[in-house]
Order: sequence, then structure tokens, then C-alpha cells
Amino acid sequence: MLGQQRIFSGIRPSGDLHIGNYLGAIRQWLKLQDDHPAESGIVFGIMDLHAITTPHEPEKLREATLETSLIYLAAGLDPKRTTLMVQSWVPAHAELAWVLGTMTPLGELERMTQFKEKSRALGDKHGIMSGLLAYPVLMAADILLYHTDAVPVGEDQVQHVELARSIAERFNNRYGKTFAVPAVMVQKETARIMSLDDPAKKMSKSGESERGYILLTDSPDAISEKVKTAVTDSGKEIIYDPVNKPALSNLLVVFSEFSGRPVKELERDYAGKSYVEFKAGLAEAVIAGLAPLQSKFRELERGRAGVLDILHAGSERAAAVAGQTLAAVKEKIGFLAA
Ligand code: TYM
Repeated sequence: MLGQQRIFSGIRPSGDLHIGNYLGAIRQWLKLQDDHPAESGIVFGIMDLHAITTPHEPEKLREATLETSLIYLAAGLDPKRTTLMVQSWVPAHAELAWVLGTMTPLGELERMTQFKEKSRALGDKHGIMSGLLAYPVLMAADILLYHTDAVPVGEDQVQHVELARSIAERFNNRYGKTFAVPAVMVQKETARIMSLDDPAKKMSKSGESERGYILLTDSPDAISEKVKTAVTDSGKEIIYDPVNKPALSNLLVVFSEFSGRPVKELERDYAGKSYVEFKAGLAEAVIAGLAPLQSKFRELERGRAGVLDILHAGSERAAAVAGQTLAAVKEKIGFLAA
């Protein structure tokens, strides 16, 4: 039953958030928040332990952690209905990750697509650290601590949630039912928003070019500019056809999401019109779609102290649940009670 589900998800504060994070994750979260009673247990984290698995700068991480929380609030997450927490403030995440890591075969981690991609990108310059390999185990701990039933994420995280499922099952088989086995929840249309400068790559914070992504905090001018220079496909027709027109199909999805107009309607409206006209409409829709979030963000930025109170309260609530789960785990695996 949807209304009873316990939900967990989170974002790494490793830079500014982009519209892929928004359409793939945060928008799903807002719907879940509306559909669930406050007491059902919805937790959204700012996953700073995950953010240090790739090279980072300490001051920027602190800043991004605060900014990500401001974005959560500006987007409409409501601390009265959801628990907003900072991962490193709840030590149970790191503790459970250690335990689960002792039960996760190396081979399962080495075959994770994100590990392969990220380690390839980091390899020569920075070396590959074991924390990057262990990242999905930490993510499993995040999810399992809250007896999560469903994990709303974009497509790139599906494999990690599947691993969390098998880690949960393995633990339950060995020690008796301890964890809920979480289901992955993706919004099909927006699960993989692609880069604006290369429709074969997903939109990403680590994308090489700034032109590939639209940040949630980009100015209207920056948005217009990025939309203007977004790559399109050959041919003039404005139609949704992911195989033959991947770039345009991606833009149509973004347009539809920000305008609330179905793709079919956009195709009809732009039949016979030029890419230039289409892009002008798209830029307008993104700018208007982000305007409420951006004005709320600027307002919240002025009162930063308030957000810390929200994060403290949320992390405390989260720690109470996480602590109970961890205590049960410790008992089952045979640690002497402290
Ligand atoms: P992260 O921070 O890379 O991304 C946050 C969320 O945004 C989604 N996303 C996208 N969705 C659609 N199109 C895109 N181009 C796109 N790019 C990103 C991601 O799928 C994700 O849902 N490991 C996670 C954070 C995490 C987590 C967790 C998530 C840590 N622990 C426990 C769920 C449950 C990550 O790095 O996401």
C-alpha cells in the first residue's frame, strides 16, 4: 500500500544540483511526500559520506551540504512531513556499512557500472580508493537502516539499490529477518535526463562541459544560452523518437516536465516550426518552471541558521530509528552489548 511505505533517498552534495537530479529524484520525492501521511517515515539525506569517495575540497563540501539542504527546502520538501538529515551526523550509517562490507563479495562491487565508470575516469590522475569501491555498501546501509520499502532514484542508481536488496536478503537468510528488502522506484520518463551537449551521456555534475547541464540555480540568461547551444539531431521535424532523434527527445521530455504539457501536445504545437522557435519555448518553460524554486532558494539563503535547526532535528529523528536497527544488527551478529 503506497500510503504506508517507508521511503529513503538522498543526494551527494558534490556540487550544484542540476535538472537531472530535480526531474529524476526530487520531483518524485515531492509526489511521495504529498501521497504519504507524515508518520509513514520518509527520510531524505544529504549524503556527505558519499561525496568524499571522489576527490573533493573541504570548504566546498561544507558549502554544498548547506546548499543541497536549501535546495531540498526550496523545492518544497517539508520538514514537518519528511525527515531531512545529514548522513555524517548519524554515525550508524558508517557503522552498518562496515558490518555489511564484511558480507559483500568483492566481485559484486567490482561489477558495478558506476564504479567502473568512475574508476576509469579517476584512474590515472588520482588513483582509485577503496571507499569508491565500497560506496554501494554504504548506500545499502543508508537504505536498510530505515527499514525502507521503496527507494526513489534516477536510473543510474538502480543497480546500487538492487545490490542493497541482495545484501538485505543475504543478511536476513543468515541471521533471521532483520531488514526490509527495498524496492527501487523510478519515474520512467525522467529516469535518465541526458546531457545537452551529448545525448549519449547522462546529464551529470562531473560532465566535462558546463553546457551539458542546467543547474537549478542557473540564471535565466545562462539557461537560455545553454538551451540555445544544446545539440539537436539531423532533420527538421520536432518529434519524440529516442532512437533516431535522441537529443530532441531528451529536450522534449525536459520541456514537457517543466511546462506540464504532454509530449504529444508539444509535437503538435511545434509541427512545422523551427528548432529556434522550439528552443525559445523550451528555455521559457525551464526558466518559468524553476522560478519559484529559485526565489525560495534566495529567500532561504538569507536565513541559513534556520536550516541548521531543521537538519539537527531531522538527523536526531533519523538517528533514533537508525540506532535501533543497528542495535538489532549488533545483537544478531554477536557483538557483546556495551
Ligand atoms: P547522486 O547525488 O549522483 O544523484 C542524486 C539523484 O539524482 C538522480 N540523477 C538523475 N536522474 C535522472 N537523470 C540524470 N541525468 C540524473 N543524474 C542524477 C540519481 O539517480 C539520484 O537519484 N549514491 C547516490 C546518493 C545516495 C543514495 C543513497 C540514494 C547515497 N545513499 C541511498 C538513494 C538511497 C548518488 O550519488 O546520487
